Amino acid sequence: MEIKEFKSYKAMCQLVASNIRDCVKGNDNPILGLATGSTPIGVYELLSKMRNTHFDNTITFNLDEYRGLNHNHRQSYHYFMRKHLFQFHNFQKNYFPSQSNLHKYDIMIKNAGGIDIQILGIGTNGHIAFNEPGSSRHSATRIVDLTENTINDNSRFFDPLEPIPTQAFTMGMSSIMDAKKIYLMANGKHKRDILEKTCKGEVLSDIPASFLNEHKNVEVLYCD
Ligand code: GLP
Repeated sequence: MEIKEFKSYKAMCQLVASNIRDCVKGNDNPILGLATGSTPIGVYELLSKMRNTHFDNTITFNLDEYRGLNHNHRQSYHYFMRKHLFQFHNFQKNYFPSQSNLHKYDIMIKNAGGIDIQILGIGTNGHIAFNEPGSSRHSATRIVDLTENTINDNSRFFDPLEPIPTQAFTMGMSSIMDAKKIYLMANGKHKRDILEKTCKGEVLSDIPASFLNEHKNVEVLYCD
């Protein structure tokens, strides 16, 4: 996989947002796979301002959610998506993996028609969604234990005295790999090293993002 380097974060986000707009406009039944984390915020900001693009027919499937966090908690991914995107447009449906749909999430994605565009960030340990190192290429949507690395990385968003979730619901590698188009986005020098390891071409199970080397339609976008 080639790394496309952008001069600015805005330019990187513009590319993804305009492709999402084209997909939504050119499709009767668009299906988007959405990521959280700081990286895609600029994409959502651009989408939220597109007043002439209508999402009424769009179904979204988010990648993940913390287990045990109330959906109104400001660090929950439900809260994040409402704050950055869902409050600005009407969608047909917004799904997240949860305890109650865990065993049918992958089938729900398939039945909806499959993900047209999947946005991905990358963890500093190479995780995508919450598929941590050691995840299988064919993993289903499931509950996972977060690694210490991920808990530490995400602790910056929580108050110092607040308990940080140690488990999450995550879309598995299988549904991610079935997406028709994937944008893997990375923002900042601290992601350079893992991105280079990911893109070398070798598939390594301790770097789940490297499974993307086997996908036919991935764009890897980077800015520092
Ligand atoms: C979390 C999310 C991932 C995201 C990663 C990177 O762990 N589960 O989906 O890619 O954070 O976050 P950031 O974009 O803030 O670096």
